[in-house]
Amino acid sequence: MAKFILPALALAGTALAQCDGPSFTISASEDASQLASCQTYDGDIIIASEVSGQVQLNGVSSITGDLRCTNASQLTALSADRLSSIGGTFDLEELQILSSLRLPSISRVNRVRWIALPGLQSLNFGAGINAANNVYISNTGLTDLRGIELTAVGAMDINNNQYLRTINVNSLTNVTQALSFSANGMNLAIEFPNLEAAGNLTFRNVSSISMPSLANVPGSIGFYSNPFESFAAPNLTATGNTIAFVDSPMLSNLSFPSLELIGGGLLLANNSELTQIAGSFPALSTINGDINFYGTFENVAFPSLTDVKGAATVYTSSTNGTICDLFNRAKTGQAIKGQVTCETGSTNTANNGTGTRSGSGSSRSSGAAVANLNFDPSAPLTGFAAFVAALLFI
Ligand SMILES: *[C@@H]1O[C@H](CO)[C@@H](O)[C@H](O)[C@H]1NC(C)=O
Ligand SMILES: *[C@@H]1O[C@H](CO)[C@@H](O)[C@H](O)[C@H]1NC(C)=O
Ligand SMILES: *[C@@H]1O[C@H](CO)[C@@H](O)[C@H](O)[C@H]1NC(C)=O
Ligand SMILES: *[C@@H]1O[C@H](CO)[C@@H](O)[C@H](O)[C@H]1NC(C)=O
Ligand SMILES: *[C@@H]1O[C@H](CO)[C@@H](O)[C@H](O)[C@H]1NC(C)=O
Ligand SMILES: *[C@@H]1O[C@H](CO)[C@@H](O)[C@H](O)[C@H]1NC(C)=O
Ligand SMILES: *[C@@H]1O[C@H](CO)[C@@H](O)[C@H](O)[C@H]1NC(C)=O
Ligand SMILES: *[C@@H]1O[C@H](CO)[C@@H](O)[C@H](O)[C@H]1NC(C)=O
Ligand SMILES: *[C@@H]1O[C@H](CO)[C@@H](O)[C@H](O)[C@H]1NC(C)=O
Repeated sequence: MAKFILPALALAGTALAQCDGPSFTISASEDASQLASCQTYDGDIIIASEVSGQVQLNGVSSITGDLRCTNASQLTALSADRLSSIGGTFDLEELQILSSLRLPSISRVNRVRWIALPGLQSLNFGAGINAANNVYISNTGLTDLRGIELTAVGAMDINNNQYLRTINVNSLTNVTQALSFSANGMNLAIEFPNLEAAGNLTFRNVSSISMPSLANVPGSIGFYSNPFESFAAPNLTATGNTIAFVDSPMLSNLSFPSLELIGGGLLLANNSELTQIAGSFPALSTINGDINFYGTFENVAFPSLTDVKGAATVYTSSTNGTICDLFNRAKTGQAIKGQVTCETGSTNTANNGTGTRSGSGSSRSSGAAVANLNFDPSAPLTGFAAFVAALLFI
């Protein structure tokens, strides 16, 4: 009898010990069953690169450290029936034929880091991940992000996922650090219906973006090389840093009806269809950085703008001389504190603004000496005229 009990006890002892880290390495698919009695695994679980086929990490509901797998070129499927939280990084890299990721109970992951998973087209996640500090998804076969159902996230960077067509994170309201999307599918449509606050926002190669609830951006918002025709931020009132729209060849309509403060600069560059700037920023009163406009715009109006702390650099192919008159008057009327450089009939319109300053203009006074370069001495601004100029671009 004893000879049967002993191995059983030994096994139980091992199983218990295996629930404590620092780490457990799954070297073959069947090793995963050794963790089945661990409700919590205290440490990292590593799937070795030689593992092939499927790994079923059943039984474990929580991992305090990482769940990692790198370079397992023959791994096809990973499942974990009860796993709800990963305290470290959920790190999957270079898994060439992984096509199934089934975690029906997963809800909290500290960091998601998925890189080079070309066979992974969808997630099988139940209610999905609702909280994460950091999400980085690059070069996967995913066509959407169903399963990433965050309500809040520190930073999210989604890049080079060429099959990605839609992103709709309906529950996301707050992004404390940054959201970044670049070089994903050609026709990627992004919707964040309830996003209210985001630290920094960067969008590259995105065909449509909807953020109707966005109200506050403590950092900057940058749009680069996006094939969209319009962008609207109806509820955005303030940004802490720069707003940039660069190289969007079809963009013709910008709408920021509630925006009052830009904490950095305003950069509009190389958007060849953006012929109207009048009407886009009706409530904007303060720009703490510089204005940099390069393009084809035929008119400019900022009916509420009274304070630009930085400089204004304006190049347009339009021959409408009134545009430069307005900027020069604004300089004379002290609405623009820094240097004004303005050129109509310009060929410098495909400039993407790289190298232009867009940060805070608070420490700049150097432009003052040259500010009068464009000043029209025949129109001295005093009294009512000066007041009108101070209310820039009526
Ligand atoms: C994965 O493979 C690449 C290239 O073969 C190698 O550089 C890298 O060190 C490997 N990573 C791990 C964790 O084995
Ligand atoms: C989102 O951020 C705003 C401030 O930016 C804060 O007032 C609000 O409580 C946050 N909401 C959540 C759900 O964290
Ligand atoms: C993103 O846009 C840039 C600039 O237009 C372009 O060079 C690049 O090929 C685009 N990338 C993708 C994945 O569409
Ligand atoms: C935005 O990004 C800049 C530069 O990377 C960084 O310094 C800043 O802290 C970020 N803002 C927020 C609110 O995270
Ligand atoms: C925009 O802001 C208003 C006022 O705060 C609010 O009532 C409305 O629901 C917001 N719209 C969206 C789409 O969040
Ligand atoms: C620009 O977009 C805004 C908001 O979406 C819309 O109300 C307005 O009619 C558009 N203007 C033009 C000229 O299309
Ligand atoms: C020239 O620019 C001014 C100021 O933006 C604008 O009011 C006017 O309509 C423009 N003229 C033409 C012909 O576009
Ligand atoms: C701007 O254009 C220059 C040269 O044309 C290029 O080197 C640079 O990468 C571009 N920057 C951006 C942000 O597109
Ligand atoms: C300006 O936009 C055009 C068309 O999108 C693009 O080909 C060119 O590279 C851009 N120039 C710069 C300097 O970004």
